[in-house]
Amino acid sequence: MPIHPRHYRLRFLLDLSWTVLFPQLCLFTALKTTGCPYTSLSVIVRVLLHLLAVPFIGWLRICWDEYSNARAAASFNAASIPRVRGKWPGNLDIAVKLVKSMHEDYLMQFFADLFDEYCVHTLNTRIFWSNQIITIDQEIVKHLLTGIGPDRFHKGYYWQERFESFLGNGIFNRDKEEWQAHRQIARPWFAKERVSDFNIFEKYTDRTLDILSSLITQHGSTTRAFDAQDLFARFTLDTASEFLFGQSLNTLMLELPGQGGHAVKMGPKGSAIDDEFGSFAWAFEDVQVKISTRMRIGNIWPIFELFQDKTQKSNTVIHDFLRPLVDQALDKKSDKKNRRDDKLDEGSETFLDHLARSTEDRDTVRFQLLNMLLAGRDTTSTLLSFVVYFLCCHPEVAARLRTEVLDHYGHDGRPTLENLKGLKYLRAVLNETLRLFPPVPMNSRLSDHSPRAIPCTSLSTHTTNFSILIPPNTTILYNTFLIQRRKDLWGEDAEVFRPERWLSNNSNISTDEEVGENHLLFMDPRDGDGLRKMIKDPFIFLPFHAGPRVCLGQNFALNEASYFLVLLLQRFKSFELAEDSMPEGSSPPLHWKKRTSGRQRYERIWPKSSVTTFVKGGLWVRAIPA
Ligand code: HEM
Repeated sequence: MPIHPRHYRLRFLLDLSWTVLFPQLCLFTALKTTGCPYTSLSVIVRVLLHLLAVPFIGWLRICWDEYSNARAAASFNAASIPRVRGKWPGNLDIAVKLVKSMHEDYLMQFFADLFDEYCVHTLNTRIFWSNQIITIDQEIVKHLLTGIGPDRFHKGYYWQERFESFLGNGIFNRDKEEWQAHRQIARPWFAKERVSDFNIFEKYTDRTLDILSSLITQHGSTTRAFDAQDLFARFTLDTASEFLFGQSLNTLMLELPGQGGHAVKMGPKGSAIDDEFGSFAWAFEDVQVKISTRMRIGNIWPIFELFQDKTQKSNTVIHDFLRPLVDQALDKKSDKKNRRDDKLDEGSETFLDHLARSTEDRDTVRFQLLNMLLAGRDTTSTLLSFVVYFLCCHPEVAARLRTEVLDHYGHDGRPTLENLKGLKYLRAVLNETLRLFPPVPMNSRLSDHSPRAIPCTSLSTHTTNFSILIPPNTTILYNTFLIQRRKDLWGEDAEVFRPERWLSNNSNISTDEEVGENHLLFMDPRDGDGLRKMIKDPFIFLPFHAGPRVCLGQNFALNEASYFLVLLLQRFKSFELAEDSMPEGSSPPLHWKKRTSGRQRYERIWPKSSVTTFVKGGLWVRAIPA
C-alpha cells in the first residue's frame, strides 16, 4: 500500500530498514546456503560481517542498477546520461559543494559550472548513489511536459512529501485524477472576463502608488527608500485575495519595513517586520525556504526532521490566518442550505464560495486557497520586482517605456484589456525580465516505474544519440533559469537585459507616417531575434510552463503587472537602487566580481530562490516623481 506523503518519517524508516535489514537477511541466507554455522563465528567476525553486509549489498545494487540501465539503454538505442564523478563516496563532496554554493554563489551557479565542466546539457548527479538528473535541454523538457510525457512523468511522491505540510492536497501538490479534479474546479476562475476585470487592479494599484507618493511628501522632494519586493508582495496578495475570495487581506494598510522607526530586519527571503502581516509574510516565506532546503538535500531530508517538522511553526501561523476565511465561507454555505436557498448567484460567488460548494472538508478548502495564494502572490511580485530592478539599472529602458506609456495614456489615462495589447515595448520588457529571472526558476518531475528513452537535442558535443535513458523512479530537475540564459539558444548576449530582442523589426517600427526610413538605419539587426527563436522553438522560453499543467494565471498575471507598471510610470519618471538601505548581508559578495563570465560580475542585488526567485534582503529603491 502506498504511504501517504504526510508520513515522511515512516517512508524514511522503511527505506532505512531496506538499506540496513535486507543486507542482514542476505548474509544469513548466504551463510546458510554455504553451510557456514553462524554460531561458530567469533563475535568480532559476526559484527564485521553485519557491518560489511550493508555497503556490499549497496554496491551490488548499484552494479545491478547500472547493468539493467545499460541494457535498457541498448535495447532502446538510447545513451546513458553522463554521471558527475565526485571525489568522495556517494558524491558526498558534490552535495557539500552544492549546499555551500547555495549560500555563497550566484543563483544556479553550481549547476551552470557542472554543465560547463562536463560540456553537456544533461547530467546525473548520483548523490548518495541515487539517480538524480539535472537538465537544461529544452527537448527533454518538451517531452516531460507535453505529448505522452505527462502520463509518465509526474510531480510524484517525493515532491508531495516535501510540500505536504504546506500545500496539502492542493493543485500544486497532486497528480493524475486528483490534480485533474482541482484543475477543473479552478479553470473557470481564469476565464477571460474574470482576469480582465481591471477594477481590482485599479483599486490596489492606486493604493500602492498612494503609499509611494506619501514617501515623497514625508521627505520633501526626495523619496524615502522602500523595499519594492515587500510592497509588490502586498499588492499582489491583496489583489489575489480579492480576486479569489472577494475580500482583500489588506496587507497594504499595515506598516512597511523600516517605517515607524523600526530597524529593517532580514526575513527568510526579503526584509521583515514584527506586526501581524510581518508574521504571516515571514511564515509564508520561511516555509518556502525550509521546503527548498528539503528539495536540495534530496530523499534523505527526513533525517534532519525526524523529531520535529521544521515547517510546523510557520504552517500554524499561515493556517491560523486563513482558517476564519474558510469558516466564514462554509458557514455561509450551510446558512444557505438551512434557508433552503439553492440558487447559484454567479455574479457574487467567489472562488472560495465555489470551492466551499465542491466539498465539506475545511482542510481541503484551506489548502486550495493556500495554493492559489502562493501562485498569485509570489510569482507576480517577483516579476514586478525584477522589472523595477532592471529599470533602475537601465535608465534608457525606463525612459523608453515611459514614453510608450505616456504616448498611449498621457499622465492619467487608464488602460483597458484591448489597448494594453498596443504596448509592445512593455511586453518586451516583461518577457525579457521573465527570461532572465523566471519566477519559478527550477522544477522537477519523477519518472514512473519503467525505464524510458526520451528525445534530447544532444547529450554532448561527442555523441550522435538523440535519445537518452531515464532510469525508473528518477527525479529530473529541469532548470528554466539556465535554459533561458543559454548562449547557444539566445546568442552571445544571452545574459544581457535587452528587451529589443522581443521586438520584431516590423512591430518595432511605428506605423505613424512620421517614422522615416532613417529609423531602419539605426535599427539593431538583432532586434526580434529572441522572438524569432522563441517562435521556432517555444520550449526555450518557459516562464509559465507548458502542456496540461501550464500556468492558469498567466493572463491574470500579465494583465496585473502591465496595469500596475503603466500607472507606476505615469506617476514616477525613474527609479534608483538604494544600496545604502539594504539590510546587512544582502549585498552581492565581492568575490562575484572576479568571475570572468555570467551576470554576477555586474549584478547589483543578490538573486536567490526558494520555490520562487527573490532578491535577498529585499529590493531597496527610490522612486523619482514625474
Ligand atoms: C508572473 C507570474 C506567474 C508565473 C511566472 C507563473 C508560473 C507558473 C508555473 C511555472 C507553473 C507550473 C508549476 C508547476 O508545475 O509546478 C504555474 C502553475 C500554476 N499557476 Fe502560475 N505563474 C504566475 C502567476 C500566477 C497567478 C497570478 C496565478 C493565480 C492567481 C497562477 C496560478 C497558477 C496555477 C493554479 C497553477 C497550477 C497549474 C496546474 O498544476 O495545473 N499563476 N505557474
